[in-house]
Amino acid sequence: MANQEELKKIIQAIQSLPTLPTVAVKVNSLIKSPTAGAAELAKVIELDQSISAKVLSMINSAYYGLSRKINNIKEAVAYLGTNAVSQLVLALGVLKTFGGKGSKNFDRKQFWIHSIAVAVIARVIAKEEKRHKHPEDVFTAGLLHDIGKVAMDNFATDTFELVLSQLAKEKIPFFRVEQEVLGVDHTRIGEWVARSWELPLLTIVSIRHHHEEPAGRKGFSLSQDSAVDIIAVSDWLAITNSIGNSGSAVVEEPGEEVFSRANITKQQAQAVAQHLKSEIAKDAAQLGI
Ligand SMILES: [Fe+2]
Ligand SMILES: [Fe+2]
Repeated sequence: MANQEELKKIIQAIQSLPTLPTVAVKVNSLIKSPTAGAAELAKVIELDQSISAKVLSMINSAYYGLSRKINNIKEAVAYLGTNAVSQLVLALGVLKTFGGKGSKNFDRKQFWIHSIAVAVIARVIAKEEKRHKHPEDVFTAGLLHDIGKVAMDNFATDTFELVLSQLAKEKIPFFRVEQEVLGVDHTRIGEWVARSWELPLLTIVSIRHHHEEPAGRKGFSLSQDSAVDIIAVSDWLAITNSIGNSGSAVVEEPGEEVFSRANITKQQAQAVAQHLKSEIAKDAAQLGI
């Protein structure tokens, strides 16, 4: 079967994934090391000028809500903490690796705007009312939640084209078409990619479970983390408010349980998205997307 062969191709491609930028690899191992210091981290990040500039532009965005401008990475680490800055570097490193053009029927620029929208909205929801202990980790997870689509676009172009043409005919969500065409969807492919890069666990579970009902989310120690619910809500918000394009305008509204686990009402969630809409477009431009 064609899809079996395509699946094999994807698995092989994942085994020889491109490496992340050096700075992201170093920072990823520093995040996991309890003894890593702020000065060491800042020094590593500053070596990559392009990522450093992007980190600064993100954290100086209006939605970050900082009371003053942050001028360099050392200041950023001192002001926001090592984890917040590391999470950003890691997310931007993956974005850089999966930059580029992609299939002609898949607008990579709009895709990344969708991803930034989900990240930004999820971070604000997480931070407000202290809905989640680690808003920066939720940001990274949000930015990378659909990474499986880009991987498929890169490694299984023919199948991905098939998914896209089927999507044009059927008004059903993206992942349902992928399941029809390939037998698996971007949540599983994204999980494989994230695991092989040893991305943080919260990112892995958010990629894996963001289209699943809470009862079906199993397998990892963080599978039931509310970050997944916050990202599911943010994904729905980005799509229904047409901020970027993840490949399909069709989305299933998260169930009531997801909203209650995310600790936000539908109305509150819509207000957050509308408030952030124009900022997100500006941000994408600053990131060179
Ligand atoms: Fe998705
Ligand atoms: Fe999405």
